[in-house]
Amino acid sequence: MGDYDMNSLHGENFYLSELSTNEDLLRTFSSVFENYGFDIKRYKTAFMKRRLDRRMRILEIKDYLEYAMILKKEKPEFDELFASLSINVTNFFRDPVVYDKLKLSIMPKILSGLGQHGKIRIWSAGCASGEEAYSLAIMFSHAIEKTNNFDIEIIANDINKKAIEFAQNGKYSKKSVDTLPKEIIANHFQKIVDSKNNVEYEVVPPTKNLVTFKACDILSSDLKNLDVIFCRNVLIYYEKEAQELIMTKFHHCLKESGYLVLGMDETMLGRRCEKLFNPTIARERIYQKITVSNNLK
Ligand SMILES: C[S@@+](CC[C@H](N)C(=O)[O-])C[C@H]1O[C@@H](n2cnc3c(N)ncnc32)[C@H](O)[C@@H]1O
Repeated sequence: MGDYDMNSLHGENFYLSELSTNEDLLRTFSSVFENYGFDIKRYKTAFMKRRLDRRMRILEIKDYLEYAMILKKEKPEFDELFASLSINVTNFFRDPVVYDKLKLSIMPKILSGLGQHGKIRIWSAGCASGEEAYSLAIMFSHAIEKTNNFDIEIIANDINKKAIEFAQNGKYSKKSVDTLPKEIIANHFQKIVDSKNNVEYEVVPPTKNLVTFKACDILSSDLKNLDVIFCRNVLIYYEKEAQELIMTKFHHCLKESGYLVLGMDETMLGRRCEKLFNPTIARERIYQKITVSNNLK
């Protein structure tokens, strides 16, 4: 265990057997994360443990306390672990049926609610490398292309800084765009070939400019008056209490009767959430905000 001071994590003595329960494990690593300004208590313990185990296997460390001490002293290792907590898997128009439902059933209602003019405001919460936000930009810009009456504003955030930098850059591999219809590629991407003959597809400025990316936690956002929130495949890693906190946040951020879209494997957990949102299109996990009385807010 080298120079690491095994007693300094909580200012109390530790024995390895003390980390035998998940609760101990989470308490110990929570304290390490808090030192760096992050709260991991919201994550599901099983998910957290899988991530810790993976890093420890790579480093050939068998002892959680030893790993906790390394994390405490070595910021680069902390950064590695933190990045591994953010699962960035995504793609353009992920679950196309969700986008179809949104286009056919929800978008007409949003547009008619705006009247003759107005701005459509959408949040891609937990956007990873940006494909979801750009898919929304593409879809909504097509929906309003025959009229000049509407503006589109898409705000996209992720806790992972590297993912946000990638998204802002807006350059995707051929494989990423391969499944998109040809006319979408032609209208929204520019093919770039570098000196080594690598091919990339960059989102064109009119589409790119519809999206503002920000590296931050969903819970730190202060957005208001949104028409739609996409928060897909993010909440699966969180405990029920954290999910409720995030749902309450979304409820505040949406307009009256605004829409929330979750991932296909995600559902509204708990009675509190049921009071905040109605499943409008349950199969595709599209929910609508319920206006609640003040004492529930
Ligand atoms: C699996 S990706 C989902 C991307 C996209 N929404 C989709 O469905 O394809 C989950 C993303 O959520 C981000 N994330 C997790 N918790 C977050 C939080 N509290 N605030 C912001 N982003 C978060 C992760 O960093 C990761 O990039």
